[in-house]
Amino acid sequence: MAFGPEVYATKAKTDVDVLYSFYSTVVRMKTDLAEIQRSQPTPFPPYQVALDDARLLSLLYQQEQIGIVITSPPYPNEKDYTRTTRLETVLLGYLKSKSDLRQLKEGLLRSNTRNVFVKDDDDRYVADIASVQAVAREIEAKRIELGKTSGFEQLYHRVTTLYFGGMYRHFASLMPHLRPGARCAYVVGDQQSFFRVHIATAQLLADVALKAGFKVEGIETWRNRFASATQRHIEENVLILRKPE
Ligand SMILES: C[S@@+](CC[C@H](N)C(=O)[O-])C[C@H]1O[C@@H](n2cnc3c(N)ncnc32)[C@H](O)[C@@H]1O
Repeated sequence: MAFGPEVYATKAKTDVDVLYSFYSTVVRMKTDLAEIQRSQPTPFPPYQVALDDARLLSLLYQQEQIGIVITSPPYPNEKDYTRTTRLETVLLGYLKSKSDLRQLKEGLLRSNTRNVFVKDDDDRYVADIASVQAVAREIEAKRIELGKTSGFEQLYHRVTTLYFGGMYRHFASLMPHLRPGARCAYVVGDQQSFFRVHIATAQLLADVALKAGFKVEGIETWRNRFASATQRHIEENVLILRKPE
């Protein structure tokens, strides 16, 4: 298997011990879990797992207000999360038909052209955010300049505005469930999957969060990698937000 921009099958290798690699990863996960159980005071704090759309957060209505959010949402790139886990999803019986898959995709944030649908309109929430509109225009101008005409390429600028609009819906849905002064940390990476146009995800999300009523406390660098193709640093950041008191 290889990755770029999605998981795909590549030429078979004969000198890799796949089963051992799989086994040692599973053992490491098991050891980590055992270590956490040993080192944490028991009983564990109560927890809940919820199946929900982050743009709705409907399950939070029965809960107490939240003081801290730590998360990593999708980034606007060409990664289709339903593909990375397709095998397990089918083998474990979570998906039985094409319409099940479509339903799953419809509940996901639009972050890749494989899950854009004709009726999508999350982009309307960022129609008034100049920074987001500017990057979408730059992507579309680049497509025209390069003479790219495939269906997916024509959606690149649209998926960008749908992404930031979906994140606006998430921020706006989250706001009433937060305590005054609550803090949120979002790990997001810069992207350049769309004709190498640079998308400064954390900066743009900060503008989106401001519109939803958050204070932006800062953007911290989490990781940095140098992209040789474009000769620039691609950052992964933590965007820190606060609900006003
Ligand atoms: C960057 S990954 C982070 C995964 C995990 N939080 C971590 O840190 O390893 C983003 C995840 O968000 C999920 N996702 C996408 N849209 C979503 C939505 N509308 N509601 C909830 N989760 C969503 C994707 O399936 C993916 O697993």
